[in-house]
Amino acid sequence: MSRIRITGGTPLSGTVPISGSKNGSLPLLAAALLCEDEVVLHNIPSIRDIRTMIKMLRALGARVEFREDGGLVIDNSTINSVHAPYDLVRRMRGSFYVAGPLLARYGEARVPLPGGCVIGTRPVDFHVRGFKALGAEVEERGGEMHARADRLRGTRIYMDPRLRSVGATVNLMLAASLADGVTVIENASREPEVVNCQQFLAACGADIKGIGTTTLTITGVDRLSGTEWSAISDRMEAGTFLIAGALTRGDVTVEPVKADHLGIVLEVLEQAGCELKIDERSVTVRMSERPLAVDVMTAPYPGYPTDLQPATGVLMSIARGASVIEERIFDARFNYVDELLRMGADVRVMEGAAIFKGVPQLFGAPVVASDIRAGAALILAGLCAEGETEVSGGVLVDRGYENITGKLADLGAQIEEEPEEAPEGPDAECLG
Ligand code: UD1
Repeated sequence: MSRIRITGGTPLSGTVPISGSKNGSLPLLAAALLCEDEVVLHNIPSIRDIRTMIKMLRALGARVEFREDGGLVIDNSTINSVHAPYDLVRRMRGSFYVAGPLLARYGEARVPLPGGCVIGTRPVDFHVRGFKALGAEVEERGGEMHARADRLRGTRIYMDPRLRSVGATVNLMLAASLADGVTVIENASREPEVVNCQQFLAACGADIKGIGTTTLTITGVDRLSGTEWSAISDRMEAGTFLIAGALTRGDVTVEPVKADHLGIVLEVLEQAGCELKIDERSVTVRMSERPLAVDVMTAPYPGYPTDLQPATGVLMSIARGASVIEERIFDARFNYVDELLRMGADVRVMEGAAIFKGVPQLFGAPVVASDIRAGAALILAGLCAEGETEVSGGVLVDRGYENITGKLADLGAQIEEEPEEAPEGPDAECLG
């Protein structure tokens, strides 16, 4: 995909199958590099970012194949390079995850620095500082990080408690799993995707205490075996479809998903006036009126996910009343607002926050998606707008959402897509 054309105004209704998590699958694919035996991963979504990560593992020499039952088999016995190609890293920041495993298992990692990004500054200094603390010699030259260590040494790592980086937590816990001695990571992130990766590592023989908490104690082991494992459901996809149901005054069930993983998102939907039904494997949203205005502030899990902030902004743009959305993770995450203004929204972006004065109706317009989550938000805006909306840059949405147009059409949306050239350059390929 694609350019996406939507005729708004149809209430969505039905059940959406939720795919495996993008942000949950990427750490699992990288973690597989640590394992001496074959790893089989299930519930891996068919999206562009996963294809990029598979290309990355293959570029390092791994054998990666999908089985007929959908299981992704990763065999690392053929790894023959510790040099990650720039062309893949610049497409997706998540590919920096290979640094920790390469360094820990092969004693060396040469990984290009990911560079700029449309949703804001996204440095990797926490990752690099952690590798150094683990005893690696690290050089940053020619746009590349080159790290070496005969064997990493356990240590104590303090992460910034205000930011609690998902990526750095993953990279450092992967590296520490094969280090010599005990590593304590303070202020680790506890996103469900990170916890799933910790459980995977433990199943492969890693010694990790404090799984799911902000203090991880990892005693390095000499080797990790392989295992068969499933990625969790994508809570961002589930949240996006629930918000779509609320925006179109519909009746939408997402399944399978764990309500716990959506936590505060469900709380905000309830405050906005949605009727929710929560079961063990599913959540249903029903909405019959315009939403109520709710103030939201993004924060690391269990706080409000920044990845759902743009979709939430669309919901607040048609609310009864004014709301403030504060963005505390990525400085440029309001880049969808200019496009939303073209659809009739009344939003003012200040430093790190936006004031949404709800309008009764959005109106269709041609708009451009700047990143995955902005693209999904603009599709949602089109679903509740009067008339036709054309979202270009749909190829970005395809990086993180499996068959979003097909799934929306199955819920009754009037939506179609036409192929579009993939945009070039790191900005267009930024991770969300
Ligand atoms: C991950 C998610 C992304 C989500 C984000 C925040 C994946 C593949 N991506 O991105 O969808 O929006 O978490 O939940 O899981 N920071 C630094 N230095 C570092 C690392 C991070 O300053 O070395 C800052 C970032 O600029 C940002 C904050 O820390 O302000 C959090 O970033 P982080 O949690 O690392 O995001 P990602 O792992 O890149």
